Amino acid sequence: MDIFVDEKRKLFHLTNGKVSYIFHVLKNGSLGQLYFGKAIHHREDFSHFQTNNIPTPASCHYYQDDPAFSLETTRQEYPVYGKGDFRDAAIELKSLEGDIGNQFRFQGYEISKGKPKLAELPATYASENEATTITIKLIDETIGVVLFLTYTIFHCYPVITRSARIKNNNSDILFVKKLMSASIDLPDDKYKMIQLSGTWSRERHIKERDLVQGIHTVSSIRGASSHHHNPFLALKRKKTTEHANDVYGFNFVYSGNFLAQTEVDHYHVTRVMMGIHPHQFKWKLKKGQSFQSPEAVLVYSDEGINGMSQAFHDLYRNHLIRDTWKTKERPILINNWEATYFEFNEEKLIGIAKSAKELGMELFVLDDGWFGKRDDDTASLGDWFANERKLPNGLTILAQKVNGLGLQFGLWFEPEMVSPDSQLYKRHPEWIVGKQDRYLTFGRNQLVLDFSMDEVVQYMYQKMSAIIQDTKLSYIKWDMNRNITDAYSQALPFDRQGEFFHRYILGVYHLYEKLISKFPGVLFESCAGGGGRFDPGMLYYAPQAWTSDNTDAIERLKIQYGTSLVYPIYSMGSHVSVTPNHQTRRNTSMETRANTAYFGTFGYELNPLELSSSEKAEVKEQIQFYKNHRNLIRDGDFYRLKNPFEGNETAWMIVSKDKREAVVGWYKALATPNPEKQQVLLLKGLNEDGLYRCDAQGKTYYGDELMYRGLNLPIEYNGANADQAERSGDFQSAVFHLKLE
Ligand code: DGJ
Repeated sequence: MDIFVDEKRKLFHLTNGKVSYIFHVLKNGSLGQLYFGKAIHHREDFSHFQTNNIPTPASCHYYQDDPAFSLETTRQEYPVYGKGDFRDAAIELKSLEGDIGNQFRFQGYEISKGKPKLAELPATYASENEATTITIKLIDETIGVVLFLTYTIFHCYPVITRSARIKNNNSDILFVKKLMSASIDLPDDKYKMIQLSGTWSRERHIKERDLVQGIHTVSSIRGASSHHHNPFLALKRKKTTEHANDVYGFNFVYSGNFLAQTEVDHYHVTRVMMGIHPHQFKWKLKKGQSFQSPEAVLVYSDEGINGMSQAFHDLYRNHLIRDTWKTKERPILINNWEATYFEFNEEKLIGIAKSAKELGMELFVLDDGWFGKRDDDTASLGDWFANERKLPNGLTILAQKVNGLGLQFGLWFEPEMVSPDSQLYKRHPEWIVGKQDRYLTFGRNQLVLDFSMDEVVQYMYQKMSAIIQDTKLSYIKWDMNRNITDAYSQALPFDRQGEFFHRYILGVYHLYEKLISKFPGVLFESCAGGGGRFDPGMLYYAPQAWTSDNTDAIERLKIQYGTSLVYPIYSMGSHVSVTPNHQTRRNTSMETRANTAYFGTFGYELNPLELSSSEKAEVKEQIQFYKNHRNLIRDGDFYRLKNPFEGNETAWMIVSKDKREAVVGWYKALATPNPEKQQVLLLKGLNEDGLYRCDAQGKTYYGDELMYRGLNLPIEYNGANADQAERSGDFQSAVFHLKLE
């Protein structure tokens, strides 16, 4: 049993032995929150969980004859404004008469096995045996509006997903101004809030803050989930560590404008909310029409932040990423971007591809610059035909030649954009985002195509389909290099302009869906100027994402470490590039660059023809290493061991589900003068009794030794041990493979 319903008390308990989520119907018919956390026994009555504070004379009470019942002092599941609760509300509606307060009252519920699809939206999925779903129906009779709150509990994971749908049954037009996907009131505020924030080239850095009375938000109003804030927040206790104690994680399966918010009230209750950002949002509903919110994923872990991450990883690997790519090996790729930028021709590309094949790579990706008259970033986006000057024989011939070498062929697209200097723009100036008679703001010299228009989506679908077919394409890197300004659709009437941002992202999802349905074998890698749209919405369509434009191995440690809080390791595109690195001008060894890049979907972003013969030999070994272990990297449990945001070292490891093998990565940014002689690294997740062989050291260790005494790290140079030292200087690293004897 995973959903208990007490009809008499109108109480619902979702539980799976890992988590419990309990709510009930309040006196006024709305939903009250009782508990979310570690699984607890089911019992008849949970009314003692109600932690309502006694209203003060200053509180507004719902019923005249019951001053003790005030929404201001009640923990709720989906709060409204205007009925005594002055905190931020989950929903806001407007009629033609103006703002309307709501009073939604419980009407009934429906339980189903599995998890119904969300119309037009990406979401986690589950079969009938993997999850159970309950939908609560609430009605505001005065205005004739129905609210459906849907909760799914996954049987094997400490996860609840939530979404909301609103239906207008009124004959009058209604506008939805805000519809959060989830809202929950937790009983206290003794948390630190974790967020993943940054900017281009340093995405998803871990930031923490104490909660205090007031609102704390992370959000995006850029039209994309953004480099700056990921649609994620977590709350941890002060005593919570990487591997122990409570943490709640919230992640939004959406790629557009979002709001993730905590609000601590005057009684120290913490309200967490997640949903589409209400900024400029206004969705018109005629009689009988509905609006569906995207999905929020709620994870509880009592095994620290790492436990939360493992729950997200397992959920997304098994219930978000499409079937085709769940178990399929991802090809080791060579991407020409940093090797050539816009300067290439067929001969040069074939040279790179040939050399890449000799080194063991499997997929050749032709990045930006292959189309129209594109020689720099000022022209030709939208003109998706081969650049005749660079590729006079056309794309199909190039693809055939690449395939002939025994490599798969992949292409870069930026389908959502158009250059003013392009044939497409000349033909369809009305397809761009923004009012044409206004001054429009540029980003990377380009304008945004209005993906809220079905005509635009269909056009791109035709263009991309034809190229996929002609070139027998295996892979697409779908880039998106600027955020949306001048938000306005020339195709929408004035009273639907508030729908633009959401309709835009629905258009993006629609194109992905159409392409994937027609070409299920094509591997998509999402990208937005690096990691500007690394979110679960994208992962549903594209099982890997270009993690960041920053390919510097040391910077990548922070980016990949932060990203791993939520997203599976195998979803992070990570490549070895040249030194000095193009983003930081830092020099690191080829070994350290690969040691970082192994923990992701591996590839190279350099010209292999420019490698020395010893570097080539090293690359061959790296490729073999990754081929040997990529299934473990895809399927294993990830453990973070040392945090680059807290010190000079980073370490992490992946252990196979059966604990028979593991791969460990260790990195030290700056050398230590006169270090201790033998440094060790404490490992996690191994079989205590198992005897593991460490090939790199030719040594064996018991699992308990490795976890409680540690793995010997290579000996560091100390000024006097030149004959013994196994490493020296800055940017040292080592990767170890451990296998049960
Ligand atoms: C931004 C991407 O992140 C890069 O990898 C590259 O594809 C460029 N765009 C091409 O314009």
